[in-house]
Amino acid sequence: MATEKWVEETLEKVRKKIIVTAEKNKDKIPYRTDAQGDYDDNSEPRGDGSGLDWWTNGFWGGTLWKMYEDTGNERYAEIARISEKKLEKCFETFTGLNHDVGFMYMLTAGADYRLTGNKDSLRTLLHAANLLAGRFNPVGYIRAWNDVWGDNVGWAIIDCMMNLSLLYTASEITKDPRFSNVAKRHADTVINAFIREDGSCCHIVEFNPETGERVKSMGGQGYGEGSSWTRGQAWGLYGFVISYIHTGDKKYLETAVRIADYCRKNVPDNGIIPIDFCQPKEPALEDCCGACIMACGFIELAKQLGEEKGKEYLETGKKILKAIAEERCDYTLECDAFVQNCSAAYHSKDHNMTMNYADYFFVEGLQKLADIGSFYW
Ligand code: GLY
Repeated sequence: MATEKWVEETLEKVRKKIIVTAEKNKDKIPYRTDAQGDYDDNSEPRGDGSGLDWWTNGFWGGTLWKMYEDTGNERYAEIARISEKKLEKCFETFTGLNHDVGFMYMLTAGADYRLTGNKDSLRTLLHAANLLAGRFNPVGYIRAWNDVWGDNVGWAIIDCMMNLSLLYTASEITKDPRFSNVAKRHADTVINAFIREDGSCCHIVEFNPETGERVKSMGGQGYGEGSSWTRGQAWGLYGFVISYIHTGDKKYLETAVRIADYCRKNVPDNGIIPIDFCQPKEPALEDCCGACIMACGFIELAKQLGEEKGKEYLETGKKILKAIAEERCDYTLECDAFVQNCSAAYHSKDHNMTMNYADYFFVEGLQKLADIGSFYW
Protein backbone atom coordinates (compact mmCIF):
# COMPACT_ATOMS: atom_id res chain seq x y z
CA MET A 1 0.00 0.00 0.00
CA ALA A 2 1.25 3.52 -0.81
CA THR A 3 2.66 5.43 2.15
CA GLU A 4 0.41 8.26 3.27
CA LYS A 5 1.59 11.79 2.51
CA TRP A 6 1.81 12.90 6.15
CA VAL A 7 4.07 9.91 6.93
CA GLU A 8 6.37 10.65 3.97
CA GLU A 9 6.54 14.33 4.88
CA THR A 10 7.22 13.61 8.55
CA LEU A 11 9.96 11.13 7.70
CA GLU A 12 11.58 13.74 5.48
CA LYS A 13 11.59 16.23 8.39
CA VAL A 14 13.07 13.55 10.65
CA ARG A 15 15.85 12.82 8.14
CA LYS A 16 16.77 16.50 7.79
CA LYS A 17 17.06 17.08 11.53
CA ILE A 18 18.59 13.85 12.76
CA ILE A 19 21.59 14.00 10.43
CA VAL A 20 22.59 17.10 12.41
CA THR A 21 21.59 15.98 15.93
CA ALA A 22 23.29 12.58 15.51
CA GLU A 23 26.63 14.20 14.76
CA LYS A 24 26.18 16.77 17.51
CA ASN A 25 25.46 14.08 20.13
CA LYS A 26 27.80 11.42 18.79
CA ASP A 27 29.79 11.05 22.02
CA LYS A 28 26.78 11.22 24.33
CA ILE A 29 23.81 9.03 25.00
CA PRO A 30 21.10 11.62 25.47
CA TYR A 31 18.20 10.92 27.80
CA ARG A 32 16.41 14.21 27.53
CA THR A 33 17.67 15.04 24.08
CA ASP A 34 17.05 18.74 24.66
CA ALA A 35 18.77 19.37 27.95
CA GLN A 36 20.58 16.16 28.87
CA GLY A 37 18.49 16.15 32.05
CA ASP A 38 19.60 14.45 35.24
CA TYR A 39 21.62 11.79 33.55
CA ASP A 40 24.00 14.00 31.68
CA ASP A 41 27.13 12.35 33.04
CA ASN A 42 26.49 8.92 31.64
CA SER A 43 30.02 8.29 30.46
CA GLU A 44 30.59 5.65 33.18
CA PRO A 45 28.29 3.08 34.81
CA ARG A 46 27.55 4.15 38.39
CA GLY A 47 26.46 0.70 39.49
CA ASP A 48 23.07 1.96 40.66
CA GLY A 49 21.29 2.31 37.33
CA SER A 50 21.71 6.08 37.16
CA GLY A 51 24.78 6.60 34.97
CA LEU A 52 25.79 4.74 31.86
CA ASP A 53 23.64 1.91 33.20
CA TRP A 54 20.48 4.07 33.05
CA TRP A 55 17.77 1.95 31.45
CA THR A 56 17.04 4.16 28.43
CA ASN A 57 20.58 4.17 27.11
CA GLY A 58 19.84 1.72 24.29
CA PHE A 59 17.26 3.90 22.57
CA TRP A 60 19.71 6.41 21.15
CA GLY A 61 21.63 3.64 19.36
CA GLY A 62 18.32 2.10 18.29
CA THR A 63 17.18 5.32 16.64
CA LEU A 64 20.49 5.58 14.80
CA TRP A 65 20.22 2.01 13.50
CA LYS A 66 16.70 2.85 12.32
CA MET A 67 18.11 5.82 10.41
CA TYR A 68 20.92 3.67 9.02
CA GLU A 69 18.30 1.32 7.60
CA ASP A 70 16.28 4.22 6.25
CA THR A 71 19.13 6.02 4.53
CA GLY A 72 21.98 3.52 4.12
CA ASN A 73 24.30 6.19 5.58
CA GLU A 74 27.18 4.37 7.33
CA ARG A 75 27.73 7.34 9.65
CA TYR A 76 24.62 6.33 11.60
CA ALA A 77 26.06 2.85 12.13
CA GLU A 78 29.38 4.33 13.30
CA ILE A 79 27.69 6.58 15.85
CA ALA A 80 25.37 3.80 17.01
CA ARG A 81 28.43 1.64 17.67
CA ILE A 82 29.93 4.29 19.96
CA SER A 83 27.05 3.79 22.39
CA GLU A 84 27.04 0.01 21.84
CA LYS A 85 30.71 -0.11 22.92
CA LYS A 86 30.04 2.11 25.93
CA LEU A 87 27.20 -0.08 27.16
CA GLU A 88 29.52 -3.09 27.35
CA LYS A 89 31.18 -1.37 30.33
CA CYS A 90 27.99 -1.87 32.37
CA PHE A 91 28.69 -5.60 32.51
CA GLU A 92 31.80 -4.85 34.60
CA THR A 93 29.91 -3.00 37.33
CA PHE A 94 26.85 -5.27 36.96
CA THR A 95 24.86 -3.88 39.92
CA GLY A 96 23.35 -1.10 37.82
CA LEU A 97 21.76 -3.56 35.42
CA ASN A 98 18.24 -4.86 35.93
CA HIS A 99 15.24 -6.23 34.00
CA ASP A 100 15.78 -3.46 31.43
CA VAL A 101 18.79 -5.10 29.77
CA GLY A 102 16.41 -5.91 26.91
CA PHE A 103 15.86 -2.23 26.20
CA MET A 104 19.57 -1.51 26.57
CA TYR A 105 21.03 -4.29 24.44
CA MET A 106 18.34 -5.31 21.92
CA LEU A 107 18.45 -1.92 20.22
CA THR A 108 22.25 -1.58 20.27
CA ALA A 109 24.08 -4.92 20.09
CA GLY A 110 20.88 -6.68 18.97
CA ALA A 111 20.26 -4.31 16.07
CA ASP A 112 23.94 -4.41 15.09
CA TYR A 113 23.96 -8.22 15.03
CA ARG A 114 20.66 -8.36 13.15
CA LEU A 115 21.79 -5.90 10.48
CA THR A 116 25.49 -6.69 10.12
CA GLY A 117 26.07 -10.11 11.70
CA ASN A 118 28.71 -8.55 14.01
CA LYS A 119 29.99 -11.40 16.21
CA ASP A 120 31.02 -9.09 19.09
CA SER A 121 27.45 -7.81 19.20
CA LEU A 122 26.18 -11.37 19.39
CA ARG A 123 28.37 -12.03 22.43
CA THR A 124 27.03 -8.90 24.12
CA LEU A 125 23.46 -9.86 23.30
CA LEU A 126 23.81 -13.36 24.75
CA HIS A 127 25.55 -12.02 27.84
CA ALA A 128 22.59 -9.67 28.42
CA ALA A 129 20.11 -12.50 27.84
CA ASN A 130 21.83 -14.58 30.51
CA LEU A 131 21.59 -11.68 32.96
CA LEU A 132 17.88 -11.29 32.27
CA ALA A 133 17.23 -15.03 32.58
CA GLY A 134 19.16 -14.92 35.86
CA ARG A 135 16.53 -12.54 37.28
CA PHE A 136 13.81 -15.16 36.88
CA ASN A 137 12.38 -16.42 40.13
CA PRO A 138 11.17 -19.98 39.38
CA VAL A 139 7.93 -19.26 41.27
CA GLY A 140 6.98 -17.52 38.04
CA TYR A 141 8.22 -13.95 37.48
CA ILE A 142 11.21 -11.87 36.40
CA ARG A 143 12.17 -9.59 39.20
CA ALA A 144 12.03 -5.84 38.56
CA TRP A 145 14.75 -3.40 39.65
CA ASN A 146 17.38 -3.93 42.36
CA ASP A 147 17.76 -3.33 46.07
CA VAL A 148 18.69 0.29 45.55
CA TRP A 149 14.96 0.87 45.05
CA GLY A 150 14.02 -0.60 48.44
CA ASP A 151 12.58 -3.90 49.54
CA ASN A 152 11.30 -5.05 46.17
CA VAL A 153 12.49 -8.62 45.86
CA GLY A 154 8.93 -9.76 45.02
CA TRP A 155 8.17 -7.02 42.48
CA ALA A 156 7.46 -7.47 38.80
CA ILE A 157 6.35 -4.72 36.40
CA ILE A 158 4.35 -4.56 33.18
CA ASP A 159 7.23 -2.75 31.40
CA CYS A 160 9.24 -5.98 31.48
CA MET A 161 6.98 -7.48 28.80
CA MET A 162 9.07 -5.53 26.28
CA ASN A 163 12.32 -6.99 27.58
CA LEU A 164 11.16 -10.54 26.87
CA SER A 165 12.18 -10.11 23.24
CA LEU A 166 15.80 -10.46 24.37
CA LEU A 167 15.02 -13.92 25.75
CA TYR A 168 13.05 -15.07 22.72
CA THR A 169 15.83 -13.81 20.45
CA ALA A 170 18.52 -15.62 22.48
CA SER A 171 16.61 -18.90 22.11
CA GLU A 172 16.12 -18.38 18.40
CA ILE A 173 19.85 -17.76 17.93
CA THR A 174 21.17 -20.52 20.21
CA LYS A 175 18.37 -23.05 19.58
CA ASP A 176 18.25 -23.43 23.37
CA PRO A 177 14.67 -23.01 24.65
CA ARG A 178 15.59 -22.17 28.24
CA PHE A 179 15.51 -18.43 27.52
CA SER A 180 12.12 -18.45 25.82
CA ASN A 181 10.77 -20.80 28.50
CA VAL A 182 11.57 -18.11 31.07
CA ALA A 183 9.91 -15.46 28.89
CA LYS A 184 6.75 -17.55 28.49
CA ARG A 185 6.49 -18.30 32.21
CA HIS A 186 6.78 -14.60 32.97
CA ALA A 187 4.23 -13.65 30.29
CA ASP A 188 1.77 -16.25 31.63
CA THR A 189 2.15 -14.81 35.13
CA VAL A 190 1.47 -11.33 33.77
CA ILE A 191 -1.77 -12.51 32.12
CA ASN A 192 -2.99 -13.88 35.45
CA ALA A 193 -1.67 -11.26 37.83
CA PHE A 194 -1.58 -7.94 35.93
CA ILE A 195 -4.42 -7.88 33.40
CA ARG A 196 -7.74 -6.78 34.85
CA GLU A 197 -11.24 -7.83 33.81
CA ASP A 198 -11.67 -4.74 31.60
CA GLY A 199 -8.36 -5.34 29.76
CA SER A 200 -6.38 -2.65 31.60
CA CYS A 201 -3.02 -3.47 33.26
CA CYS A 202 -1.48 -2.82 36.67
CA HIS A 203 1.97 -1.27 36.69
CA ILE A 204 3.61 -3.11 39.62
CA VAL A 205 2.60 -6.42 41.19
CA GLU A 206 4.23 -7.78 44.32
CA PHE A 207 4.54 -11.55 44.72
CA ASN A 208 5.61 -13.63 47.67
CA PRO A 209 9.12 -14.50 46.42
CA GLU A 210 9.07 -17.86 48.22
CA THR A 211 5.70 -19.11 46.93
CA GLY A 212 4.77 -16.90 43.96
CA GLU A 213 1.48 -15.95 45.62
CA ARG A 214 0.20 -12.55 44.44
CA VAL A 215 0.41 -10.09 47.35
CA LYS A 216 -0.84 -6.80 45.89
CA SER A 217 -0.65 -4.37 43.00
CA MET A 218 0.67 -0.81 43.13
CA GLY A 219 -0.02 2.33 41.13
CA GLY A 220 3.68 2.84 40.32
CA GLN A 221 4.18 5.61 37.78
CA GLY A 222 0.44 6.03 37.23
CA TYR A 223 -2.20 8.04 39.10
CA GLY A 224 -2.75 5.43 41.81
CA GLU A 225 -3.55 1.85 42.73
CA GLY A 226 -6.19 0.47 40.33
CA SER A 227 -5.56 3.22 37.73
CA SER A 228 -4.25 2.79 34.17
CA TRP A 229 -0.84 4.38 33.59
CA THR A 230 -0.91 4.84 29.82
CA ARG A 231 2.76 4.00 29.21
CA GLY A 232 2.17 0.80 31.18
CA GLN A 233 -0.83 -0.04 28.96
CA ALA A 234 1.46 0.58 25.97
CA TRP A 235 4.25 -1.67 27.31
CA GLY A 236 1.66 -4.39 27.93
CA LEU A 237 -0.03 -4.04 24.54
CA TYR A 238 3.17 -4.01 22.51
CA GLY A 239 4.84 -6.57 24.80
CA PHE A 240 2.11 -9.16 24.26
CA VAL A 241 2.21 -8.62 20.50
CA ILE A 242 5.94 -9.33 20.69
CA SER A 243 5.35 -12.52 22.72
CA TYR A 244 2.86 -13.61 20.05
CA ILE A 245 5.30 -12.87 17.21
CA HIS A 246 8.01 -15.00 18.81
CA THR A 247 5.85 -17.91 20.02
CA GLY A 248 2.78 -18.00 17.76
CA ASP A 249 0.76 -18.64 20.93
CA LYS A 250 -2.74 -17.22 20.42
CA LYS A 251 -3.25 -16.44 24.12
CA TYR A 252 -0.64 -13.70 23.82
CA LEU A 253 -2.40 -12.23 20.79
CA GLU A 254 -5.74 -12.39 22.61
CA THR A 255 -4.23 -10.60 25.60
CA ALA A 256 -2.82 -7.88 23.33
CA VAL A 257 -6.29 -7.47 21.80
CA ARG A 258 -7.88 -7.14 25.25
CA ILE A 259 -5.43 -4.41 26.26
CA ALA A 260 -5.83 -2.71 22.87
CA ASP A 261 -9.63 -2.72 23.16
CA TYR A 262 -9.40 -1.13 26.59
CA CYS A 263 -7.02 1.54 25.24
CA ARG A 264 -9.15 2.23 22.15
CA LYS A 265 -12.13 3.00 24.34
CA ASN A 266 -10.04 5.53 26.25
CA VAL A 267 -7.92 7.24 23.58
CA PRO A 268 -9.25 10.82 23.33
CA ASP A 269 -10.67 11.98 19.98
CA ASN A 270 -7.70 14.29 19.39
CA GLY A 271 -5.27 11.34 19.78
CA ILE A 272 -3.32 13.05 22.61
CA ILE A 273 -2.72 10.57 25.42
CA PRO A 274 -2.87 11.51 29.13
CA ILE A 275 -0.37 10.08 31.64
CA ASP A 276 -3.08 7.86 33.07
CA PHE A 277 -6.45 6.99 31.59
CA CYS A 278 -7.92 7.39 35.12
CA GLN A 279 -6.34 10.75 36.00
CA PRO A 280 -8.50 13.79 36.83
CA LYS A 281 -9.34 16.06 33.83
CA GLU A 282 -7.27 18.89 35.33
CA PRO A 283 -4.37 19.32 35.17
CA ALA A 284 -4.45 17.91 31.63
CA LEU A 285 -1.10 16.15 31.89
CA GLU A 286 0.10 14.26 28.82
CA ASP A 287 2.58 11.54 28.04
CA CYS A 288 3.51 11.73 24.38
CA CYS A 289 6.19 9.10 24.99
CA GLY A 290 3.60 6.50 26.05
CA ALA A 291 1.58 7.64 23.03
CA CYS A 292 4.38 6.73 20.59
CA ILE A 293 4.83 3.29 22.21
CA MET A 294 1.07 2.70 22.16
CA ALA A 295 0.90 3.69 18.49
CA CYS A 296 3.63 1.15 17.67
CA GLY A 297 1.71 -1.50 19.62
CA PHE A 298 -1.52 -0.77 17.72
CA ILE A 299 0.21 -0.77 14.33
CA GLU A 300 2.06 -4.03 15.00
CA LEU A 301 -1.08 -5.65 16.39
CA ALA A 302 -2.98 -4.68 13.23
CA LYS A 303 -0.28 -6.29 11.12
CA GLN A 304 -0.56 -9.55 13.06
CA LEU A 305 -4.37 -9.56 12.82
CA GLY A 306 -4.44 -8.93 9.06
CA GLU A 307 -6.18 -6.27 7.03
CA GLU A 308 -9.78 -6.90 8.00
CA LYS A 309 -9.47 -7.66 11.73
CA GLY A 310 -6.64 -5.18 12.18
CA LYS A 311 -8.24 -2.19 10.46
CA GLU A 312 -9.52 -0.34 13.51
CA TYR A 313 -6.34 -0.92 15.49
CA LEU A 314 -4.31 0.46 12.60
CA GLU A 315 -6.54 3.53 12.44
CA THR A 316 -6.07 4.16 16.17
CA GLY A 317 -2.29 3.76 15.89
CA LYS A 318 -2.21 6.21 12.99
CA LYS A 319 -4.45 8.69 14.79
CA ILE A 320 -2.11 8.78 17.79
CA LEU A 321 1.09 9.04 15.74
CA LYS A 322 -0.35 11.72 13.45
CA ALA A 323 -1.39 13.77 16.48
CA ILE A 324 2.20 13.56 17.78
CA ALA A 325 3.67 14.36 14.34
CA GLU A 326 1.43 17.38 13.78
CA GLU A 327 0.84 18.76 17.27
CA ARG A 328 3.66 17.69 19.56
CA CYS A 329 6.90 17.55 17.57
CA ASP A 330 9.72 20.02 17.20
CA TYR A 331 11.45 19.66 13.83
CA THR A 332 13.73 22.66 14.32
CA LEU A 333 17.35 22.54 15.44
CA GLU A 334 16.47 24.59 18.53
CA CYS A 335 15.87 21.33 20.37
CA ASP A 336 17.63 18.02 19.68
CA ALA A 337 14.49 15.99 20.38
CA PHE A 338 11.41 15.53 18.24
CA VAL A 339 8.65 14.48 20.65
CA GLN A 340 7.65 16.99 23.33
CA ASN A 341 5.33 16.71 26.38
CA CYS A 342 6.57 13.41 27.74
CA SER A 343 6.23 12.52 31.40
CA ALA A 344 8.31 10.38 33.74
CA ALA A 345 5.40 9.55 36.06
CA TYR A 346 2.10 11.10 37.16
CA HIS A 347 3.38 12.02 40.64
CA SER A 348 6.68 13.51 39.54
CA LYS A 349 7.88 16.96 38.62
CA ASP A 350 9.21 15.68 35.30
CA HIS A 351 6.37 16.57 32.94
CA ASN A 352 6.47 18.20 29.51
CA MET A 353 9.95 16.88 28.91
CA THR A 354 11.64 15.14 26.00
CA MET A 355 12.81 11.52 26.21
CA ASN A 356 15.08 9.57 23.89
CA TYR A 357 12.69 6.61 23.84
CA ALA A 358 9.78 8.77 22.73
CA ASP A 359 11.86 9.70 19.69
CA TYR A 360 12.86 6.07 19.15
CA PHE A 361 9.24 4.86 19.08
CA PHE A 362 8.18 7.86 17.01
CA VAL A 363 10.69 6.88 14.33
CA GLU A 364 9.84 3.18 14.65
CA GLY A 365 6.13 3.94 14.22
CA LEU A 366 6.67 6.11 11.14
CA GLN A 367 8.91 3.48 9.60
CA LYS A 368 6.29 0.79 10.23
CA LEU A 369 3.72 2.90 8.38
CA ALA A 370 6.17 3.44 5.51
CA ASP A 371 7.25 -0.22 5.50
CA ILE A 372 10.89 0.71 6.08
CA GLY A 373 13.47 -1.27 8.08
CA SER A 374 13.50 -4.39 10.25
CA PHE A 375 11.76 -5.44 13.42
CA TYR A 376 14.25 -5.09 16.32
CA TRP A 377 12.11 -6.69 19.01
N1 GLY B 1 10.13 1.55 32.08
C1 GLY B 1 10.02 2.73 32.82
C2 GLY B 1 9.19 3.76 32.18
O1 GLY B 1 8.49 3.49 31.22
O2 GLY B 1 9.24 4.89 32.67
